[in-house]
Amino acid sequence: MTALLEVEDLRVAYGKIEAVKGISFSVEAGQVVTLIGTNGAGKTTTLRTLSGLLKPLAGTVRFEGETLTGTPAHKIVKLGLAHSPEGRHIFPRLTITENLQLGAFLRKDAAGIDKDIQRAYDLFPILGERRGQAAGTLSGGEQQMLAMGRALMSRPKLLMLDEPSMGLSPIMMQKIMHTIRELKSNGTTILLVEQNAQAALSLADCGHVMEIGKIVLSGTGQDLLHDESVRKAYLGED
Ligand SMILES: Nc1ncnc2c1ncn2[C@@H]1O[C@H](COP(=O)(O)OP(=O)(O)OP(=O)(O)O)[C@@H](O)[C@H]1O
Ligand SMILES: [Mg+2]
Repeated sequence: MTALLEVEDLRVAYGKIEAVKGISFSVEAGQVVTLIGTNGAGKTTTLRTLSGLLKPLAGTVRFEGETLTGTPAHKIVKLGLAHSPEGRHIFPRLTITENLQLGAFLRKDAAGIDKDIQRAYDLFPILGERRGQAAGTLSGGEQQMLAMGRALMSRPKLLMLDEPSMGLSPIMMQKIMHTIRELKSNGTTILLVEQNAQAALSLADCGHVMEIGKIVLSGTGQDLLHDESVRKAYLGED
């Protein structure tokens, strides 16, 4: 069986700085795969390349067997790959409903879009309660929920989340992690980038540890959670 997403020897540079130095990994349909690693390891660069926002120097990305190299970002969304970016990037002056509608900008099925907006409200009731409010008035955690809800509006086959727990209180973080589990049990495939290694590895089928542009360790979520070097470097243990 071919994986949903296959990344082979991907290299990405900003000018002369090579931020991703030849990484390979794959994501099978139905899995949650996580990329963890310290600041500047190249996680965001990897996601931005997969969604077509950055051009790789070299390497191959295949989605459902189709090579994505050179495919523009909007076509990649259409193929079924959605990205909830680091730092959220919601539209603060637009309402919550309008932000969600923008996530469906490539769809034409009005009834289906309304149904999925309702689904986002079921997933995150606070968004439903505040639907007519400007998104900029939401708290950080609520904006994170909106960013996830918006990414889901394209009905993605693969949802990429870049640090969904960033800046959130422990309770908000638990809520977000719970939602990721819920999405997984509904069959959504997820590529999760997280600083919170404990939370990410606990729910991931498979994880990769990145350090300065390379994958230095891979395993199941449970294996990595119990790996001594991971515990020392990422889980704050001596
Ligand atoms: N637009 C840019 N121009 C130049 N260098 C960049 C740019 N964006 C990122 N970098 C560099 O590329 C490297 C990887 O950055 P990236 O944002 O992918 O890391 P990250 O793993 O997502 O880190 P974090 O956990 O802090 O979000 C870093 O050294 C960073 O300084
Ligand atoms: Mg990042």
